[in-house]
Amino acid sequence: MKTRIAVLVSGGGTNLQALIDARDRGELPHGELALVVSNKEGAYALERAEKAGIPAVVCQRAKGEPRGDFEARLLAILSGAKIDMIILAGFMAILSADFVSRYPERIINIHPSLIPSFCGEGYYGLRVHRAALDYGVKVTGATVHFVNEVPDGGRIIAQKAVDIMPDDTPETLQRRVMEQAEWILLPRAAEAVAKELGMGE
Ligand code: GRF
Repeated sequence: MKTRIAVLVSGGGTNLQALIDARDRGELPHGELALVVSNKEGAYALERAEKAGIPAVVCQRAKGEPRGDFEARLLAILSGAKIDMIILAGFMAILSADFVSRYPERIINIHPSLIPSFCGEGYYGLRVHRAALDYGVKVTGATVHFVNEVPDGGRIIAQKAVDIMPDDTPETLQRRVMEQAEWILLPRAAEAVAKELGMGE
């Protein structure tokens, strides 16, 4: 019995792809990528899921819909699929404390900086790398952490440092952090947590 994993996405899905590739290399023996949920219609991550044979659904918060209603629909999808563990991979919505409390120490997130730097409210995507460049740090990286009610606030699982180059732009830096940190860390952390949860053992 493998730990059933749902991957929540919003965009390109390069981190989802890293998980898929790790699975296909046999590096995710304790986890099953059982479901992909996107909160954005048409996210390219959905195509990646389809190509990988992973069931994928859209669960989009309707305009003006209370967050609690959106999360209730999301929770119903997850429990319907008997999900044990959630991976936020480029997922751009903040989940409430109530939602997170349903999966204690079972939700992990990849953040593109070395937490506690450049994280929390408003730090996502290219903004994170722009902030690192604006500050003038010489090293950045990525962090995988458990998700709690504080944005990017949960216990840190793994981190990997990446050097900043003098001519970096937010785009070149994001790409390097993805290639050299995110896409390496997330599959390893996913396997470690899936093994730790050891569902059904
Ligand atoms: C990127 O900014 C990545 O650093 C962060 O989420 C964004 C999109 O990731 N984790 P993905 O390509 O959708 O996985």
